[in-house]
Amino acid sequence: MTDAYEIVIDKIQESKISTTDFDNLTFGKTFTDHMLECTWRDGKWETAVIKPYGPIMVEPSCKVFHYGQAIFEGMKAFKDATGDVFLFRPEDNWIRFNESAKRLAMPEVPKEVFVEGLKALVNLDKEWVRYGEGLSLYLRPFMIASENGVAAAPSTEYKFMIVMSPAFAYYKGDVRVIIASDFSRAADGGVGYAKAAGNYAASFYPNNLALAEGYQQIIWTDAASHEYLEEAGTMNIFVRIGDTLLTAPNNDRILNGVTRRSVLQLAADAGVTIEERRISVKELNEAANNGSLKEIFGSGTAAVIVPIKGYKHKDFKFELPQLEDSYAQRFKEALKDIQYNRADDQHGWRVKI
Ligand SMILES: Cc1ncc(COP(=O)(O)O)c(C=O)c1O
Repeated sequence: MTDAYEIVIDKIQESKISTTDFDNLTFGKTFTDHMLECTWRDGKWETAVIKPYGPIMVEPSCKVFHYGQAIFEGMKAFKDATGDVFLFRPEDNWIRFNESAKRLAMPEVPKEVFVEGLKALVNLDKEWVRYGEGLSLYLRPFMIASENGVAAAPSTEYKFMIVMSPAFAYYKGDVRVIIASDFSRAADGGVGYAKAAGNYAASFYPNNLALAEGYQQIIWTDAASHEYLEEAGTMNIFVRIGDTLLTAPNNDRILNGVTRRSVLQLAADAGVTIEERRISVKELNEAANNGSLKEIFGSGTAAVIVPIKGYKHKDFKFELPQLEDSYAQRFKEALKDIQYNRADDQHGWRVKI
């Protein structure tokens, strides 16, 4: 690490941990004692500072409020039975963060700040990573345009920050989805592959309409034809037809998921036949009708894998069968075993703090 990227640590006087009710957490509402902040000014990153979690001061003219120049990542830290804490593939998130930064005309964040900063921050708030089934610490690195001014041009100042929130097993009940035939999440040449804040804002309205109809998520399809499956809400999509595992190929409309890549690797290790190719709604409906459609599931950091119980596409509705040996369950357990240090880490995904 160079001197320029030394991390300054300003510790909290008294931890809030003893007043935190870990049995009654709402996802993403409680934050740990510390956060990391690093400012980009005059064309360079200043020293990263870890300090007590709290409000930041920005002016109303701050560019992030007007032009939405904001990106983020979502990752987790896990504790094993002996109290050791691990990150899961943090470099992958750092690489994706910088791909998002590039697309949003923001400066790339050095690895020393992103990965070493994460390690230092998690290490300081280690007590907040609880041991137990489904428990973890959700890590949220993000960057915002922090220059003041209402001229539509890239900011000359940015804040890179990391905040952390204790999380529990994420279970939302049965998930049924609507396959989009009207709204789009992303378009060719757009920012769908980036973890840009605006992508999420744009999905809230169609998602609210789906919720009002009794569906929890939207399966996004390609913007040009609405004929091909792309993502499952804020997760990547997997479909099992017969015993073949299918997933949509990455493109500039799809977020290149770390969990997706991990599931594909575990499936390959298990000798499952995998096809990374376009999956049409027509093919899905045909498989549903002829009985070969066995599973649909989403993959993502928050819930690892979410099985989809049923879907609707225009007037067509289908309920997925209940399986004894589902890929969703199998790969979810396999992935969690690696994350919680209960299984060999053949691919070097765990990073010990
Ligand atoms: C739009 C979208 N797709 C897919 C994913 C899954 O990515 P990952 O597995 O890296 O969490 C996410 C984030 O969780 C997402 O926001």
